Amino acid sequence: MDNNRRPEDMARITTQEAAKKFIDEKISEIRAQVGDKKVLLALSGGVDSSVVAAILIKAIGNQLTCVHVNHGLMRKNESENVIKVFKDEMNANLIYVDATDRFLSLLENVSDPERKRKIIGAEFINVFAEEARKLDNISFLGQGTIYPDILESFKQAEGKQAVKSHHNVGGLPEDLKFELVEPLKLLYKDEVRVVGEALGLPREMVYRQPFPGPGLGVRCLGAITRDRLNALREADAILREEFNRSGLGEKVWQYFIIVPDIKSVGVKDGSRYEGWPAIIRAVNTTDAITATIEEVPYEILHRITDRITKEVEGINRVLMDLTPKPVGTIEWE
Ligand code: XMP
Repeated sequence: MDNNRRPEDMARITTQEAAKKFIDEKISEIRAQVGDKKVLLALSGGVDSSVVAAILIKAIGNQLTCVHVNHGLMRKNESENVIKVFKDEMNANLIYVDATDRFLSLLENVSDPERKRKIIGAEFINVFAEEARKLDNISFLGQGTIYPDILESFKQAEGKQAVKSHHNVGGLPEDLKFELVEPLKLLYKDEVRVVGEALGLPREMVYRQPFPGPGLGVRCLGAITRDRLNALREADAILREEFNRSGLGEKVWQYFIIVPDIKSVGVKDGSRYEGWPAIIRAVNTTDAITATIEEVPYEILHRITDRITKEVEGINRVLMDLTPKPVGTIEWE
């Protein structure tokens, strides 16, 4: 049997009871596979890698080492939360690498979206590989592969072309070939979330909206600068806070801010104030292949506009993107 194919009779995991049974099975399988050896995991804080980390911690405790690479393109407080949940609360062996300066200096003056993605993906591998080489006796690599990733690779094998290079990380260098541990590889996303809840992970982590590997890097359009990136991060945090406050946070599939490299003239405290626009995007989809626009009530949009223009240095206008996919893609780059 091809163990990358989901068996046709495999029931969808929708209940906590089914999730607990799945977790117990995976724990036994992982223990049998790994024995007393060590496993390494790149922990981004996304749903998939977080659920894999939590299962591995339960199965093998400190035989797991997690590496969290902060590429400087994370959302506000995201890395801090990964440290809080996994290191402080779950007692994981977690290495935190703040590689912000490395990434931002490589991205300086780079404006082409695909080049930005490639630089971010390649540097991620470099940083992760450097950490891996510092560790002794690692035999396995944990990965948050899920079933749609496997289906996507079947499609690519059939020669279908992608619009964007979504797959963030290529393979590790030759000297770091580990055997893979992929406990979620036959699960769909909704099942991963049910399993995450059964593992006791925080709700915000389990129901987190999708966040691209290149992070805010593809939302700070064109060549990234630190001041515009900071403005984007702060405006995005306000958008998320207001969406969560109004209940939209768990309803809307993906919502975020984009900041283009354009300035317009405005006025603040009686003086000319040149600033960037913050663009709100809020979309719903089931498969990310097509998407519709969430009709956010004006009252909420006014509050977000008021807060962003008052609280975020450098932003003087707030706009809303009303373009469905197609013709727009979800991200702007
Ligand atoms: P697009 O922009 O292609 O996005 O309509 C569809 C979904 O994919 C996410 N996305 C990415 N995810 N690496 C990722 O991991 C990427 O380079 C990337 N680009 C887009 C996007 O956020 C949306 O959920």
